[in-house]
Formats: sequence, C-alpha cells, structure tokens
Amino acid sequence: MPEFQTSPGMRDILPPESARWRRFVEVFAATVERAGYAQVISPLLEDLGVFQRLGEATDVVTKEMYDFHDKGGRHVALRPELTASVCRAFVEHRPLTPWKVWYTGSMFRYEKPQRGRYRQFDQVGIEVLGANDPYLDVEVIALGWEFYRALGLQQVNLLVNSLGEPADRARYVDALKAHFEAHIDALSPESRQTLQKNPLRVLDSKREQDAPLVSAAPRLVDFYSDEAGTHFEKVQEGLRAAGIPFTVSSTLVRGLDYYRYTTFEYQGGTLDSAQNALGGGGRYDGLVEALGGPATAGVGFALGLDRTLLACDDERVFAPPSNDVDVFVVDTAGGLEALHLTGELRAAGFRVDRAYENRSMKSQMKVADRSGAAVAVIVGSDEIAAGVVTVRPMRGHDVPAHGESVPERTQQRVARPDLITHLRNIVQ
Ligand code: HAM
Repeated sequence: MPEFQTSPGMRDILPPESARWRRFVEVFAATVERAGYAQVISPLLEDLGVFQRLGEATDVVTKEMYDFHDKGGRHVALRPELTASVCRAFVEHRPLTPWKVWYTGSMFRYEKPQRGRYRQFDQVGIEVLGANDPYLDVEVIALGWEFYRALGLQQVNLLVNSLGEPADRARYVDALKAHFEAHIDALSPESRQTLQKNPLRVLDSKREQDAPLVSAAPRLVDFYSDEAGTHFEKVQEGLRAAGIPFTVSSTLVRGLDYYRYTTFEYQGGTLDSAQNALGGGGRYDGLVEALGGPATAGVGFALGLDRTLLACDDERVFAPPSNDVDVFVVDTAGGLEALHLTGELRAAGFRVDRAYENRSMKSQMKVADRSGAAVAVIVGSDEIAAGVVTVRPMRGHDVPAHGESVPERTQQRVARPDLITHLRNIVQ
C-alpha cells in the first residue's frame, strides 16, 4: 500500500478515461454554444457567505461545505455548486441581460462516498440571468435533453415540477407541516428530524415507512397563484411542442433551497434510486437579490459528469475516444534522426510518438505495437545512408496498398523527402 493515496471520495481520472471527460465537455460546449451560451470560468473558492445565501435549510450548506479560514483570516469555502458563483459574478460585473453562460468544473461536498457520490465531482451546467419567460425554461430543459441524446443515452427520465412563488410555497409548507405533524408517530425518525428543518424535504424521503404519508400529503399544485399556475402550464406546453417526454412529479423538491417556479431533474434509468439524478435545475429568481444585486430572474441546470458517465457505461454508449498515435518512430541509429522525424511529422499534423533510451529494434517495436499506431517509421544506419525510411504497417491496421506491385501490409522503403505525402495517403 503506498504511503499516499487520494482522499476518500476523491479520484484520479487517468487515461483513457480522462480523454472521455474532455470529450464530454466538448460535446456539452458544442450543444449549448449553438444556443448562444458562452463559457464563464470562476474561482474554486468563494467567500463562505456566497454559499450561505443558498439557504440555511440546505444540507449542502450546513453539513457538507469544505470551508476554512485562509492565511488572511477570510472565511472561504470550496464551491459546492456553481449557481451561486455565477450569480455573485453577475452582481460583481453587471453584464447585459439576458446573460447566457455555461460552465464546467469540480465541486466539493463532504458527503458519504459511494458509487456515483463523491466529495469532489464534476458538473457541466448553464445559467440564464435576466429573463423570466417560461419558454426559456423550456429551452434550458431541452438543451440538457439534447445533450444526453448527443452522448447516446436512451434511458433518461425527465421529471418536472413547479414550486410556485415563495408566498404559495410558504402557505403550502404550513399545510404540509400540519399534515405530517398530525401523523407524527407514523413518520420515520429521520423524517421527523427533516420536518423540523425543511418540511418540503420530507416529500423527498425514499423510506418505505414514509411512503403512505408522503402520498397522502397536500399537493402544491392546489396552492399555486394564478401566475405560477400559468407559468407552469406554459412550460409543459412548450415541452410538449418540443417533443420532449416528461413526467410531472409533485414530490420533486431537489436539494437546494433557492428554487421557485420550475424545477426539474433528469434521472438515469440504470442507476440506483439514491444516485439516479444525472442532473437537475430550475428557476431561482430571488438568488441574485439575495447576493446583493437587483431583482433578477434566473434559470439553469447542472449535470453531474461522474454519474452521467456511469449511466453511459451501463448503456454501453459514449466510449472513451482513442488516444492512439498515427505514427511511431523507431530509431536504431541512436542519433538525432528520431528527434528530427518526430518534429517534422508532428508539425505536419500527425500524432507521433517514439521510443527512448536507444533500446533494441525488438523492444522498440513492442512499444510501437502498444501505442496503437497505424504505422511504424523505422530508421537505422542503412536507411540514413540511403536517404530513406522504412514504413511498416502495424498489426490490426489495414493499410491500403499504394503502387501496383506492393502487397497490402508490407513494409516499404520510402525516400525521405516523400515521407509526409506517403503517410498522408495511408493514415489520417
Ligand atoms: P444538484 O442537484 O445539487 O444541483 O447537482 C446537480 C448534479 O450534480 C446532480 O444531479 C448529480 O448528478 C451531481 N452531483 C451532485 N452531488 C454529487 C456528488 N456528491 N457526487 C457526484 N455527483 C454529484 C446543483 O448543483 C444546482 N447548482 C443546479 C442548478 C443550476 N440549478 C439551477 N442552476
């Protein structure tokens, strides 16, 4: 056992998986940039207060924060999510609205680690500040949906709900409290505790004991103001018009407190119910104000990279892209030839690797094999003297023959000045 290992809930992402992570972000960026979103990059650390504004009833804030005092005595925290940072940036820089941004990066939450739940995990997401149009909610939800399609995921269920306006919600929370308190003995001890802090979260309980009380609870839909009701209807109408299948889930509460009006979650069909949220989001019209800015509407989502990739594994889609090089240079002359050749070929746009330490031909060919290269370019003293290189197709690569007399997959000697043209014909 090595002396140092990653901390619990934190992981190294090694090749080839790391290439898949990058590709994931590229596919996401392409999807949302087509809709006018531009990337925002904000610090990993913020003043603790930025996240405290997310709400004191949020576990993410009260229990799971990585917060500490820096050397200047500032109380700071590693970001547990990016919506608050984006709103803080909005207040600080006052960009024109609607401000449509996307982001990617690591978040930190001190959770109990398990499959699909980590202490450092990655998200991609979008936020739009400054527009309160139900069809914008539809655009946002649709972009997440499109992205899952672009990855190839099929088993994704979209749940939507509306939490109404804060006043609707306050009346609803009172009714909910009264309902659960009237049957307090039937509630699980955990939910009894949750009830004290945040009655809405009791609806999120996955415990069997709570199921009958949860399903008999008053429904938020009966408390909506006219405006909230119309907003939600339009969101649903828009989703239907966009051909996006969804289920209205009146118990969908989500773990953060800032939501009002629309909330939604994408759930993976192949994952355990405790970790099946691939991503989620909603409207948070009061958050910019809570952070000291003007009253500003906001809507967005974040998708978990780690979990979405687990779902991709389960569905056998979105395989890691190949990291293989095109060409492997084998140099048995031991001079500068490999250095020149790799430099030239890389400059010409090929992916090129080579062996080091002047090993034998046999051991260099072994490394060449492992590299996944389509061809090896071999250069020894004979070749140097004759002004040529030997181009050898590698195992598993069907290189088309060029020139009538040369059978497929046979090595050829190629004049040094013709090498790049020759390689362009057989790789890439
Ligand atoms: P969230 O639901 O807390 O929302 O996180 C979004 C996604 O991040 C989850 O659905 C999940 O895939 C992933 N995630 C969360 N915690 C973990 C963890 N411990 N390990 C692995 N993955 C995790 C937000 O963060 C909001 N900021 C979303 C939002 C944006 N709402 C409006 N705009």
